Amino acid sequence: MRINKYLSSCGIDSRRKCEALVIDGRVKVNGKTITELATDIGDNDIVEVDGNVVGISRRKTYIMLNKPKGCVCTVKDDKGRKTVLDFIKTDRRLFPVGRLDYDTEGLLLITDDGELANKIAHPKSGVKKTYTVRVEGEPSAAELKRLRGGITYNGVKYSGAEVAVIGVENNSTRLSITVTEGKNHEIKNMIESLGRRVLFLKRVAVGELRLGGLSRGEWRYLSEREVTYLKSL
Ligand code: URA
Repeated sequence: MRINKYLSSCGIDSRRKCEALVIDGRVKVNGKTITELATDIGDNDIVEVDGNVVGISRRKTYIMLNKPKGCVCTVKDDKGRKTVLDFIKTDRRLFPVGRLDYDTEGLLLITDDGELANKIAHPKSGVKKTYTVRVEGEPSAAELKRLRGGITYNGVKYSGAEVAVIGVENNSTRLSITVTEGKNHEIKNMIESLGRRVLFLKRVAVGELRLGGLSRGEWRYLSEREVTYLKSL
């Protein structure tokens, strides 16, 4: 929908007067001032007039970030470290869904929908989270069986995981591991329980949502279809 039509259907003013707002530089789309009347507004765009989010875009925001290493999954960090929200320029009060460790990268959902966030992050939700994991050495068939059967390590019980070997290279093995619990340091602890170290850890999928071609530090809005899918879980 064209920006002037969008603004007037939000009840801001007549289409003509809304055009003037755009030309005067008072309208932002996704945090950027736009002056082009040909701008089209989609379902996930966030539109502001004079700094206030308007109309339809008061709906919740759903974002997928490819979290790089070296940042924390909190809104603010006491130690002044970079947070995942530093990648997303918005005035919205967003927060990450669950956590990835400082040195873990990959798919992170970010939203202002607390209900959905709790549902997905809760260990009992059963939502599958898939990781690509590079581990030290070459785990034996017996070790892989332990990962698949479930493990207790340092008094914490980890349910059985889906495990597939992707390949072996330079005295390390790349595994695909899918878990459903989302406990703290889940993958690292499971691998450590075998007496091995995780060398690289990246989340590549949450349920059916995949990271796809997003580069490190890049983010995008979820599609309506993806949001509907998450809500159906
Ligand atoms: N498991 C871990 O050990 N760390 C993460 O960041 C995610 C899963």
